[in-house]
Amino acid sequence: MDKIVVQGGERLTGEVRISGAKNAALPIMAATLLTPGKFVLSNVPRLRDVVTMEHVLRVLGAQVEHHDHSITVDTTNCRYHEAPYELVKTMRASVCVLGPVLARQGRARVSLPGGCAWGPRPVDFHIKAMRDLGADIEFEHGYIVAEARRLRGATINFETSSVGATENAMMAASLADGKTVIQNAAREPEIGALADFLRSMGSNITGDGTGTITIEGADELHPADVRVIPDRIETGTFMAAAAITGGDILIMGGELDHCATVASKLKEAGVEIIPVEDGIRVRGPERIKSINVTTAPYPGFPTDMQAQIMAVMTIGQGSAVITDTIYTDRFSHVPELRRLGADITIDRNVAVISGVDHLSGAMVMATDLRASAALILAGLVAEGTTEVSRVYHIDRGYEAIEKKLSGLGAKIWRESEN
Ligand code: EPU
Repeated sequence: MDKIVVQGGERLTGEVRISGAKNAALPIMAATLLTPGKFVLSNVPRLRDVVTMEHVLRVLGAQVEHHDHSITVDTTNCRYHEAPYELVKTMRASVCVLGPVLARQGRARVSLPGGCAWGPRPVDFHIKAMRDLGADIEFEHGYIVAEARRLRGATINFETSSVGATENAMMAASLADGKTVIQNAAREPEIGALADFLRSMGSNITGDGTGTITIEGADELHPADVRVIPDRIETGTFMAAAAITGGDILIMGGELDHCATVASKLKEAGVEIIPVEDGIRVRGPERIKSINVTTAPYPGFPTDMQAQIMAVMTIGQGSAVITDTIYTDRFSHVPELRRLGADITIDRNVAVISGVDHLSGAMVMATDLRASAALILAGLVAEGTTEVSRVYHIDRGYEAIEKKLSGLGAKIWRESEN
């Protein structure tokens, strides 16, 4: 197992290039299961979650090859319909094969994902969507067993906006008989990216980016090629890195529109954010001002940036209140940030961070992807050495983060843990 070692105190400067978005790539990979043929996906980040999804596609009968940041998927012989527990338990997003496999093959057996590091994360909305589309769903031995000779268009009303359930519904409805209307649909940029891909496959989808998405089901779809959009959470994480170190960096390929709320919050904290050609310039202030943040579905402040903004606030001037309304238990970074000297109290889903003058390096443990990113950010400014262990979490969602940060002047490297 590897650990990441950071020697704090360097102000970041220079240029960094943003990779393709994990959370756009995963559902797009699942969407290739909708129809037989060969697809080329480019700008796909090389991440552990992407490799897991490649395995999921393979067990369903697809041939998958990757060359650098491109993936070729051939779904001609996809005749299996089971996504096994061994894969789904390691990556919850595997559940997004449910819709496409069911729509194309008339049946799907997908393991229930179980809990994750910060709580139960149910899949009831995914199941409701498939039932609304006419599927017969049973639960057997920990699996969702779904059947429908042909799905039929329906109105699907989600009580809470869900990215994954909206994606599953969009994919399944693309091959359903008739019209589907998804109400209270998620509006994240990854939904728009999936809608663009489905349209290029022949699906008739409108309304993505709003709360109501309409899909006229098609009798058949065809393969298409796609370039994955830039990762807005990686972009936000590098913005936070510039902010916390008082640095001045160019984030190339980052889409500022997709990070507007993060950018406006960082501006409130005294960070300068300047759009430049093909990127974003971010300059941190001498001392961060403490600000309050509440997570919300897009275009609100993303839960996937909650841990990183908290790391920035640990050295803020004043007190910050951070509330996570999406995942109320997603605070595993808090005890570890405290080990670095942060002053944080928690009451249910509300954290109060009283800014301290400095952090001090320590051994800490990552317990989920975004928590790992927060600990690395804190390590960039902590006095002395910070060692972040269990970095396999970070490899799920950040491509070579230590190389990108050392390219900006940080003293950071990877070591194998004995
Ligand atoms: N929810 C349910 N039932 C469901 C589905 C969701 O109650 O069937 C609840 C969740 O527990 C949560 C809320 O609805 O409280 C929203 O969850 P959502 O379904 O939108 O999350 P997701 O699709 O499972 C995606 C990202 C997550 C990100 C969330 C929220 C992917 C592959 N994952 O998850 O990304 O946190 O949206 O924005 O797109 C990450 O990248 O670190 C990550 C966890």
